[in-house]
Amino acid sequence: MASISPPNQDSRRVFPRGIWAAVVMCMVCLAIVAVGVYASDGAPAAGTYSYDEFETPEFCGTSCHTDLYVQWTQAMMSHAYTHHWDEIEYFELAVPHAEKDEKVAEVKAGCNGCHSPLAYLNGGFPPPRPAENSRANESVSCEVCHNITGITQDTAYNFNFVWDPGDTKYGPRATGESPAHEMAKSEFLATTELCGGCHNEKSPYGVWVKSTQLEWLEGPYAEEDVRCHDCHMTYGKMATASMGPVYDDARLHLFHGAHDKGKLRGVVEIRLYPDIQEAVPGDRVKFTVTLFNQKTGHKFPTGSVEDRLVWLHLEATDADGTVYHLPVDKKGFEGEEYTIGDSVLAYQDMGIALDRPNFEGVQRDGIPVGDRIFRMPYFDPQGRMTIQQWNTASLGVDYRFAPRETKVETYTFDIPFEVPAGELTVTAKLNYQLLVKPVADFLDVPAEESEPFVVNEQSTTLTILP
Ligand code: HEC
Ligand code: HEC
Ligand code: HEC
Ligand code: HEC
Repeated sequence: MASISPPNQDSRRVFPRGIWAAVVMCMVCLAIVAVGVYASDGAPAAGTYSYDEFETPEFCGTSCHTDLYVQWTQAMMSHAYTHHWDEIEYFELAVPHAEKDEKVAEVKAGCNGCHSPLAYLNGGFPPPRPAENSRANESVSCEVCHNITGITQDTAYNFNFVWDPGDTKYGPRATGESPAHEMAKSEFLATTELCGGCHNEKSPYGVWVKSTQLEWLEGPYAEEDVRCHDCHMTYGKMATASMGPVYDDARLHLFHGAHDKGKLRGVVEIRLYPDIQEAVPGDRVKFTVTLFNQKTGHKFPTGSVEDRLVWLHLEATDADGTVYHLPVDKKGFEGEEYTIGDSVLAYQDMGIALDRPNFEGVQRDGIPVGDRIFRMPYFDPQGRMTIQQWNTASLGVDYRFAPRETKVETYTFDIPFEVPAGELTVTAKLNYQLLVKPVADFLDVPAEESEPFVVNEQSTTLTILP
C-alpha cells in the first residue's frame, strides 16, 4: 500500500495496462477504503488534468465577461484558497494533521477539491502557499463551474463532479457567439447539485459536516423551486459579455453570503415582550423573544457550522443607567449545554497538528455566559468539541434556525430591589461571528473574522413603580 504514489504529471491520463493494472487498481481501492470516504466515487482523481487545460479567470474576465468577473472577484469563492483563515486552517492544522493520522490523510489533497479544484486536478500537495502566486490561487474559478457537466452519484457532495474540459463552455443559453470558445447549453448549471457538490461535505468519518444543499432540499424553498441561484446569483438587466446583448435576466455572479454584512443584516426578525406592563422591585417578570428566520434558504448558520456563532444577548437598563444581563431560561432538551454560553474549554484536538499532545484547549464560546447560542456542535473521535470538520466523528444537538422557522426563547428576571422607579428598557440583540473568537485569537486569525456583527435587535420597556 505504501508503495503506491499518486499519479504524477507524466503518468497523467495514461491508463496502465495488463495484469499490473488490475493489481494496482485493486490496491488503490483498498487504500481508499482504509483511509476513509473523503473523495467520491467516479470523480476524476488528483492529477487527472493539468492547469494547461484551463484558462485563467483573467482570460475570461478582463476583456469579455468584465462585469461578471468583477462581481466574482468580490465573492469569497474567488478567495477560497488565498483567504487568510483558509490558509491558516489548511497549512497549520489540516496538512500536519493529515501527515500524522492515517484516518484523515486524504484531506491533504481533498481540501483542494473544493477550495482550488484546478489545483486538485493538477495534483501535487500541498500546493504552493498563496504568497507564491501559483495557479492554485485561482480558487473556485470560471473554468470550474463552466466545465462541470454533472455529478457522479445521486447526492452531490465532496466534489463528486463530472468534468468536461475543453473548448466548449457550458452556460444557461448558448445562443450567442464567442470568439474565444464554443458554447453548449447546460441544464445542470441551473440545478442546486452544482452548488451541493462543494456545499455538502462528508468527513473521513462519514459524518455530514456541511449540508447546505441538503438543508435546502428538506426545506420549503426546494418545494417552491427557489434555488441557490435565486438568492446568490440574482437576475438583473446587464450585458454578460462586453460585446454581447443585454439580457433582462443576466445571472449576476454575486455569490454573497456570510461575509456580506448586507446579506446577514436582518436574516432573523426579533419581537420581544414582557408578560406584565408594570412591576415593583422583587417582582418576577418573564420576557418572551420570538425569532423568525425570514431570509435563508437553508439553516442559519449553515456551511462552516463548526466555526460560526449566532447568539442572543438580553440586557435590561434601569432609569439610573445600571445594566443587568439576563441569562436564557433552560428548556431541558438533550445537549442543551452546548447551546448556552459557558466558560468551559474545548477544541483540544488542535493539539494534534500543533504537536501539543496535552493541549488543554481554549474557551469554547468566548461570549457572555448564559446567552442562548443557535448552533450544532461537532465532536472529535474522543467526544470533544472541534472546529476541525475533517476530524469530526459525530454531531450534537442541531439548534440552528431552519428556513422560515420561528424560535421562541424566554428570560425570567427577578427585578432587583435596588432598581429605581421609572422605565426599565430591555434589549435583545442577535449577534453573529464568522469564527469563535478564542479560536481566532489562538491561531492569530485576523480580527475581522471574529468581530461580532448585530444581525438584528429589538427593545421593549417595563414601568417600575416605586
Ligand atoms: C431564500 C434565499 C436563499 C436561498 C434559496 C439560498 N440561500 Fe444561501 N444564504 C441566504 C442568506 C440570506 C444568507 C446569509 C445568512 C447566512 O450566512 O446563512 C445565506 C448564506 C449562504 C452561505 C454562507 C454561509 C456561511 O456561513 O458562510 C452559503 C455558503 C450559502 N448561502 C449557499 C447556498 C446554497 C448552496 C444554496 C442552495 C442549495 C443557497 N445558499 C440557497 C439566502 C439563501
Ligand atoms: C460557482 C460556480 C460559478 C463560477 C465560479 C462562475 N460561474 Fe458563470 N455561471 C454559473 C451559473 C450557475 C450560471 C447560470 C446558470 C443558469 O442560470 O442556468 C452562470 C452563468 C454564466 C454566464 C451566462 C450568463 C447569462 O445570464 O447568460 C456567463 C457568461 C458566465 N457565467 C461567465 C462566468 C465567468 C467569466 C466566470 C469567472 C469570472 C464565472 N462565470 C464564474 C456558475 C458559475
Ligand atoms: C468547486 C466548489 C464550489 C462550487 C461548485 C460552488 N461553491 Fe460556493 N463556495 C465554495 C468554497 C470553497 C467556498 C468558501 C470560500 C471561503 O473560503 O470562504 C464557497 C463559498 C460560497 C458562499 C459564501 C460567501 C460568503 O460570503 O461567505 C456562497 C454564498 C456560495 N459559495 C454560493 C455558491 C452557489 C450559489 C453555488 C452554485 C451556483 C456554489 N457556491 C458553488 C466552493 C464551491
Ligand atoms: C466538499 C467541499 C469542501 C471540502 C472538501 C473542504 N471545504 Fe472548506 N469549505 C467549503 C465550502 C463550500 C465552504 C463555505 C461554507 C460556508 O460559507 O460556511 C468552506 C469553508 C471553509 C472555511 C471557512 C472559510 C471562511 O471564510 O470562514 C475554511 C477555513 C475551510 N473551508 C477550510 C477547509 C479545509 C482545511 C479543508 C480540508 C480539511 C476543507 N475546507 C475542505 C467546501 C469544502
